[in-house]
Amino acid sequence: MPQPTYVAIDDYISQTLIAPTPDVALDTALAASAAAGLPNINVAPNQGKLLHLFALMINARHILEVGTLAGYSTIWLARALPSAAPNGRPPATPHAPAASHPPRVVTLELDEKHAAVARANFITANVADRIDLRVGPALQALPQLAAEVAANRRPRFDLTFIDADKASTPHYLEHAIQLSRPGAVIIIDNVIRHGEILDQSTTDPSTLGIRQMFEQLTTERRVSATAIQTVGVKGWDGLAVLVVKA
Ligand code: SAH
Ligand code: DHB
Ligand code: MG
Repeated sequence: MPQPTYVAIDDYISQTLIAPTPDVALDTALAASAAAGLPNINVAPNQGKLLHLFALMINARHILEVGTLAGYSTIWLARALPSAAPNGRPPATPHAPAASHPPRVVTLELDEKHAAVARANFITANVADRIDLRVGPALQALPQLAAEVAANRRPRFDLTFIDADKASTPHYLEHAIQLSRPGAVIIIDNVIRHGEILDQSTTDPSTLGIRQMFEQLTTERRVSATAIQTVGVKGWDGLAVLVVKA
């Protein structure tokens, strides 16, 4: 089946299920990203909504994202967080977690130019107060987060979305596992790469990083994992989905 069919179906899904009415905040986020010259490598609308639904499925309160870009996926994730308690009081639900750690998306971005676009997008989307954007190399921010967890200054994460430089994915996965609570979900983007992960002659560092991640998972006992291929407006790619065991 030719590629345009995948695109038409993605557009159909987006029009019927994702944004039957215009979503001004997300449309504005993508327009601002393009206007600033950022690459068009955000997740597709139906993938963003899938991230949102994953977060809702597990009632995620503490979400980690590696790779912000203009904050498109971040906004989808932040919208899944429970809204802040009125008057700063803890929610009345009997089983609600302690109010000392409010729901947040911590999102890590290397490039200050990308971060500046994302910051503005978070304000437009009215989610800025739920997002902790940290600028710098993720491999510096992740040990910092681990130190905060160890000092009981923040809880472990319920959900992590790994979507930055693919060569470092194996390292991001190791940090994500250590930062996860038992039962947490980890999603890894771009794990099929138009099938290139099986090209034994490739020297592409991104592809090699993803393949190393698969190899790491064959012996990784702390998680249960699968991967799903996707086609659509982003071409042929895929997502890995992991659950961190107790
Ligand atoms: N999750 C976004 C897309 C992220 S694109 C979305 O779907 O909307 C990947 C991002 O990772 C880019 O903005 C890039 O600057 C960032 N990145 C690359 N290397 C990084 C690093 N070492 N640490 C943190 N972010 C990095
Ligand atoms: C690229 C990165 C992504 O996260 C993505 O979803 C698509 C493409 C890239 O670096 O080319
Ligand atoms: Mg991606």
